[in-house]
Amino acid sequence: MYMNVKYYPSEIQRFCCEVLEGAGVRRSDAEIVARNLTAADRRGIESHGIMRLPSYVARLEAGVMEKETVTRVVRETRAIAVVDAANGLGAVASTFAMKLALRKSEECGVGIVGVKSSNHYGIAGFYAMMALSRDMIGLSFTNAVPAMAPWGGRAAYIGTNPICVAIPAGVERPIVYDGATSVVAKGKIMLAQKKRVPIPPTWAADGWGRPTTDPDVALSDGVLLPFGGYKGSGIALALDVLCGVLPGGAFGFGVAAIAALDRSTEVGHLFAALDIAAFSPVGEFKEKVDRMIREVRATPPAEGIERIYVPGEIEFEKEVESDTNGIAISQAVLDELHGCASKYGVELMKPVSGSRA
Ligand SMILES: NC(=O)c1ccc[n+]([C@@H]2O[C@H](COP(=O)([O-])OP(=O)(O)OC[C@H]3O[C@@H](n4cnc5c(N)ncnc54)[C@H](O)[C@@H]3O)[C@@H](O)[C@H]2O)c1
Repeated sequence: MYMNVKYYPSEIQRFCCEVLEGAGVRRSDAEIVARNLTAADRRGIESHGIMRLPSYVARLEAGVMEKETVTRVVRETRAIAVVDAANGLGAVASTFAMKLALRKSEECGVGIVGVKSSNHYGIAGFYAMMALSRDMIGLSFTNAVPAMAPWGGRAAYIGTNPICVAIPAGVERPIVYDGATSVVAKGKIMLAQKKRVPIPPTWAADGWGRPTTDPDVALSDGVLLPFGGYKGSGIALALDVLCGVLPGGAFGFGVAAIAALDRSTEVGHLFAALDIAAFSPVGEFKEKVDRMIREVRATPPAEGIERIYVPGEIEFEKEVESDTNGIAISQAVLDELHGCASKYGVELMKPVSGSRA
């Protein structure tokens, strides 16, 4: 039986930061990675939150991910750049790259930055949402270790390569579509494996391409299934080109798993910022997005559905709930985190009082 003890985001941030510093990451970089992991947990994306910390620490300890992230711009035009992350921390290199895309967009109306030789960057939305406060649309994509078969196949070649598009609104909350190209992110299957619970048969297939409910099978010789059949498979492949081939980095079998402690992961990303003002008056744009959001919400719900959500809405509501009541972390994840804490002498996270009940 797994209890869910709750923690405030500030405790998750503090703990992640101190553990990463313990593993040799400089303070300013540790803070960025900690912010990324905390943002995922705050948004209810448990699969990409603090649960990932032990895997990052394992890579740093094994010497297959650099403790110091040295980003270098290797190609550049006014609107475009390619960044070599030199096997540094994904969140640090990606924050650098998205900031560069935003600067370029201010000057050119659009900024596009590819990153090669990086590592797992967490939730795609963390970077795309950096565009919102500047009245820009943010796009964020990454490739990942092969986990899905090309459509019709039964062996992994394509990653669960996610897409995030973040769109500012006026008085409404922004539209933030952020999702994997698999039915669900691989981290959700990893979480089911940690919790020892079955997965729905629509998430993954076994080594013969038959539906499986066993997370161990899905993550060993099985494959994850793409969303929307051949369409998700096709989009995931296109993203591998944008994030891998285009910036001159790794793609397909060239991308390694986070758990592979004998080599660098060679993950690639692509970030874009579109300056709304370069396309149309910002006020007009935001009014239209507000109207769109309200029209979407007003759609008559199908039978059995209580409410229509706009992409990102569930996560924004979860942020409010997380800040008020704390974030539940399963005992399976806590057990691994305790190992990190004792290794570096970091004080354990203080639970929200009363949340142990
Ligand atoms: N770094 C990586 O390698 C990697 C790989 C895959 C996924 N991810 C991340 O994993 C996270 C989770 O991905 P996921 O595919 O499991 O997400 P998900 O399926 O939970 O959500 C995907 C999107 O659908 C929206 N949504 C969910 N339910 C909805 C509803 N009822 N109505 C309207 N919209 C709804 C959400 O707001 C979200 O924008 C994402 O943040 C993604 O970036 C990272």
